[in-house]
Amino acid sequence: ARPQRIFSAMQPTSDSLHLGNYLGALVNWVALQERYDAFYGVVDLHALTVATDPAVLRERTRRTAAQYLAAGVDPQRSTLMVQSLVPEHTELAWILACHTGFGEASRMTQFKDKVAKGQSANVGLFTYPILMAADILLYDADLVPVGEDQRQHLELTRDLAERFNGRFAGTFVVPDAFIVKESARIMDLQEPTSKMSKSTSADLGLIDLLDDPKRTAKKIKSAVTDAEREIRFDPEAKPGVSNLLAIHSVLSGTPVAELEGHFAGKGYGDLKGEVAQVVVAAIEPFQTRMAELMSDPAELDRILAEGSAKAREVAAGVLGRVRDALGL
Ligand code: ADP
Ligand code: NA
Repeated sequence: ARPQRIFSAMQPTSDSLHLGNYLGALVNWVALQERYDAFYGVVDLHALTVATDPAVLRERTRRTAAQYLAAGVDPQRSTLMVQSLVPEHTELAWILACHTGFGEASRMTQFKDKVAKGQSANVGLFTYPILMAADILLYDADLVPVGEDQRQHLELTRDLAERFNGRFAGTFVVPDAFIVKESARIMDLQEPTSKMSKSTSADLGLIDLLDDPKRTAKKIKSAVTDAEREIRFDPEAKPGVSNLLAIHSVLSGTPVAELEGHFAGKGYGDLKGEVAQVVVAAIEPFQTRMAELMSDPAELDRILAEGSAKAREVAAGVLGRVRDALGL
């Protein structure tokens, strides 16, 4: 039996990723590639839902892929693809759109939230979950790591696969959500009740993976904590301190309970100092690898072309089944 296949992706919507992306996604991707047949994408077609300067988009796509590699995604072990280099994504998205109810698509809460927040809605933003379903189904993915915000989209993906299979048995693999145990949800350093996010965090609240280490240490030292003095993991009552403990724990591999013991009797300054050390120690080799990757653009493009070609072979096989089924 083949190893189970996993699919995950990010949009190239910024020049650099942040500590939340790193600890909540990339670190897991690197671990998962050991045990799974992993497909990782830079989904640039999704990024078109927001108008972006073409040169900026192209550069962000390359930089996003380079950051996967810098974090340890191994293009020999995993299949690393750029979505727009695999045109099967858009063809399958159209086909799935013709199997999606208008009411069903209208119930997607992320679209409703974005529109409510004033993002101008093009039809692409509306049908985005259908393209995401195509991304997943195109690779026969068994498992998809998803955060809370993407859960509804994965449900739609499963519904579409089951509906299609109901008409044409055996066309799609129906993917399951993959819950990464102890996956870190990193909070904003200044507003530790909200998650660290490029769209909502202020500069001081977000650790940019490409920030100068001194800046990173400074941000951690100015993190919001609370008026107590006790270093205890309690996300409800002590969100700031708990976030720092969680960051330390994932990066150092030390269980939170052990860290509580280690910091017993010490002050918040000690905690912040150690967290800064642990974060900088992780970020420095990442930045070194990132600089190496960006210094050889031809090699980076070669890796992306090769990974995308490998992905395309799989995609073409699955799309072939779909086309046969439908009479195309
Ligand atoms: P952002 O919220 O900054 O826009 P994205 O939504 O593009 O980030 O998320 C890309 C990936 O990073 C997803 O897998 C998401 O679950 C993960 N991620 C984003 N922010 C965090 C966070 N604060 N903590 C943990 N994981 C995160
Ligand atoms: Na987001």
